[in-house]
Amino acid sequence: MTNPTGQANPGSPVTAPVLVTGGTGTLGRHVVPLLRAAGREVRVLTRNPRPAADGVRHLAGDLMTGEGVDAAVAGAEVVLHLAGDAKHDEATTRTLVAAARRAGVRHIVYISVIAADRVPLGYFRAKHAAEQAVAGSGVPFTTLRAAQFHDLALKTAAAMAKLPVVPAVNGIRWEPVDARDVAERLVELALEAPAGLVTDLAGPAVRTLGDLTRDYLAAAGKRRPMLPLRAPGAVGRCYREGVNLAGPGADRGARSWEAFLAGTFPAGAAAGAAGRVRTS
Ligand SMILES: NC(=O)c1ccc[n+]([C@@H]2O[C@H](COP(=O)([O-])OP(=O)(O)OC[C@H]3O[C@@H](n4cnc5c(N)ncnc54)[C@H](OP(=O)(O)O)[C@@H]3O)[C@@H](O)[C@H]2O)c1
Repeated sequence: MTNPTGQANPGSPVTAPVLVTGGTGTLGRHVVPLLRAAGREVRVLTRNPRPAADGVRHLAGDLMTGEGVDAAVAGAEVVLHLAGDAKHDEATTRTLVAAARRAGVRHIVYISVIAADRVPLGYFRAKHAAEQAVAGSGVPFTTLRAAQFHDLALKTAAAMAKLPVVPAVNGIRWEPVDARDVAERLVELALEAPAGLVTDLAGPAVRTLGDLTRDYLAAAGKRRPMLPLRAPGAVGRCYREGVNLAGPGADRGARSWEAFLAGTFPAGAAAGAAGRVRTS
């Protein structure tokens, strides 16, 4: 762990509302009920607000334009910053942390991605720049880098399975993690003192993209021809070297990819178990 910036009152209890950006997303939908179960009042910043329910207020705001952001952070002691997209994380994070500093927020918890500082892709660069914006904001912070979520592995495999011949990209390895495990860790971190950059959180196993796709096809009960494909260029080389992987010191989520697939495709899992599905 590195030291967070600014240590104002790090140990005092959280009593004011917790603001969650991205509270409507894949990860945020798991985080919000956990905060409620911990007895916290929750605000969600969203571009598409809905009526308050179960102790959760949805506040209209857009981190791209800055609209509604000052109002959302006002009076919040802790901000979990989970909003993100593939391209704009640096700009949106800068907008949020500036508002948080003005409002005197005591703890920002940011979700980043493992190897944000190592993988030469725009998304990773933006996450790393956003990490730096958080760390340099003057607001005490905690940043957790997580691996790709099972949901993203599923989306990626499903997209590849739409091709007439499905690529088996065996040189790219992921260690997908369940968004519920990430949510649980984030809530723990949010309710503790700011801790800076904490230990990475990856999934329980390392799998090639080819394996993930093959598992998806089996679970979804689909038959497709698969063809080995080598990821090209510098990015392909970087993945083959495992630059994106967390390494032995990482924390590991308990929920497996196989259990996630079985929960998503109960019928497919049964068919796979009965040996009816051929995937390669
Ligand atoms: N998916 C992964 O595998 C993975 C892995 C590691 C880290 N992460 C990080 O985890 C975070 C959450 O990922 P996710 O997969 O849960 O995302 P997601 O399902 O795509 O949801 C994105 C969320 O961001 C909010 N958002 C996007 N643009 C916004 C804007 N301009 N203003 C306000 N809110 C905005 C959306 O809220 P509204 O649409 O309601 O406005 C939505 O709640 C992201 O920071 C991502 O980089 C993801």
